[in-house]
Amino acid sequence: MSASLSAESILTFVGAGNMAEALVHGIIQAKLLQPRCLRVTDTDRRRLDHFQATFGVTGFERNVDGVRGAQVVVLAVKPQVIADVLKDIGTKLAPSTLVVSIAAGITTHRLQQQLPAGMRVVRVMPNMPALAGAGVSVYCPGKQATEADAQLVESLFQSVGVVVRLDEKHLDAVTALSGSGPAYVFFLAEFMMQAGYEMGLDHATAKTLTLGTIRGAARLLEEMGQEPEELRRRVTSKGGTTAAALEVLEAGRVKEMFIKAIRAAQKRSRELSEGMVDG
Ligand SMILES: NC(=O)c1ccc[n+]([C@@H]2O[C@H](COP(=O)([O-])OP(=O)(O)OC[C@H]3O[C@@H](n4cnc5c(N)ncnc54)[C@H](OP(=O)(O)O)[C@@H]3O)[C@@H](O)[C@H]2O)c1
Repeated sequence: MSASLSAESILTFVGAGNMAEALVHGIIQAKLLQPRCLRVTDTDRRRLDHFQATFGVTGFERNVDGVRGAQVVVLAVKPQVIADVLKDIGTKLAPSTLVVSIAAGITTHRLQQQLPAGMRVVRVMPNMPALAGAGVSVYCPGKQATEADAQLVESLFQSVGVVVRLDEKHLDAVTALSGSGPAYVFFLAEFMMQAGYEMGLDHATAKTLTLGTIRGAARLLEEMGQEPEELRRRVTSKGGTTAAALEVLEAGRVKEMFIKAIRAAQKRSRELSEGMVDG
């Protein structure tokens, strides 16, 4: 068995939070499914009302009601509640249901252990810019998942950005790089803006210049097809202003610190994931 979407397929999000909202928005915009085929469940009635009012999708307060008859179930609750949710819905799912989890740190092996034998699972690690339709999602199919399942997951997550398929052994690195990555860029934006104020610019101007620069640099990287290092060299004339700034960054070993920071995130991701397997 495998999953593909028909005009009548039912897809349920368990947990109507930020990520579910980004995906529901993306799926409807991309016309992958009609709102009547989408369901959300949540313990908070206000979230369900919000989804109903914004997207016209049906909400359920009980997970078991929301997943009944669904071809695809996306687990979009916090990792800490996944075990309880699966205990609740596991035996209520049709054996042909594809279970997709976006919960950080929960392995496909763990999901399979908590579901009836033979169920197909796919694990996905999206990131926060999915909320703006510009996310990066990495997915890894579980052992029982088929190529059609992988294609389906790819099309769902393409509706909120770029999708990459990887072996699950890379998921801690992915979490450290693209999962936590937006925070590194926000941090950089904070520093640039702070420097702007200190040099006498007002908040609005510092923000416009910082955001425009980050957006422009990212676009240039994509459009020129050159490595970041090459573009950095091109913008740095010997003895010029950029060179003066980069000398300070190099003296402060910013590159080494960045790599160390990302490796720390990878280590933490591994610890959290192992903690959940043990717990
Ligand atoms: N946001 C990100 O950038 C991001 C990136 C990568 C992966 N993820 C993963 O995506 C998942 C969802 O993240 P999120 O940011 O969308 O979280 P979120 O906004 O907190 O959404 C989760 C929703 O599920 C509800 N909920 C709690 N227990 C439930 C239950 N037993 N049954 C049904 N609904 C329940 C929550 O209600 P209450 O608030 O009332 O508890 C909340 O409305 C997480 O596992 C996270 O690890 C998120």
